[in-house]
Amino acid sequence: MLPDGRTLFSGVSFRVGDGAVVALVGANGAGKTTLMKIIAGDLEPVEGSVSRSGGLGVMRQFVGSVRDESTVRDLLVSVAPPRIQTAALEMDAAELQMMEHDDEKTQMRYAQAIADWGDAHGYDAEVIWDVCTMKAIGLPYERAQYREVRTLSGGEQKRLVLEALLRGPDEVLLLDEPDNYLDVPGKQWLEERLASTRKTVLLISHDRELLATAANRIVTIEGG
Ligand SMILES: Nc1ncnc2c1ncn2[C@@H]1O[C@H](COP(=O)(O)OP(=O)(O)O)[C@@H](O)[C@H]1O
Ligand SMILES: [Mg+2]
Repeated sequence: MLPDGRTLFSGVSFRVGDGAVVALVGANGAGKTTLMKIIAGDLEPVEGSVSRSGGLGVMRQFVGSVRDESTVRDLLVSVAPPRIQTAALEMDAAELQMMEHDDEKTQMRYAQAIADWGDAHGYDAEVIWDVCTMKAIGLPYERAQYREVRTLSGGEQKRLVLEALLRGPDEVLLLDEPDNYLDVPGKQWLEERLASTRKTVLLISHDRELLATAANRIVTIEGG
């Protein structure tokens, strides 16, 4: 149900089996992104329910067209598991406080934030992110992390997030138009990665070749 009271879709029912790659297709405005947001838990369905098991990684449709001042690190943190997101936010807050105060309490907070980053496997994530930034933009994470995402091309933004999700710990991935902005080699790379991944993937795409080569099953959503 949309804010204006129109019903976008109803009677949707499907299951994505363990390790399957399932594509969600439909015309522009059919409700694919909305359905994905419901599955991701960003939106509440008016009726019905979603059940899933395993950690969930989500690539939202805006990746590829980031225009704000967020950094590569921010983007990688935003697609990381919740415990890493929480630890990263606390580290940022503690660092900021360190710049303003240099008292013992602030130093303790900072030391704790660093310890928590380790406990949340933040350093392990940074090792993976280093591979991701090398593959996507040819820079080590140490140098790439402060770069603004808007200085990356659309294809580089997509590739970076896809690398992070496909190499990351989440077992279930939701990908909203992952192939948009990718060039031909980028699409081929994605096709190969989707064919070989052991993760469970639900993806939205308009690309016939990607659908033909990578999807085990196709779910069509018809608007109205
Ligand atoms: N917050 C909202 N308010 C009003 N209309 C919305 C909102 N979100 C989505 N819509 C409308 O719902 C329809 C489906 O949108 P979306 O799920 O993004 O489609 P798709 O991803 O299939 O192209 C569109 O007509 C869109 O304009
Ligand atoms: Mg969409």
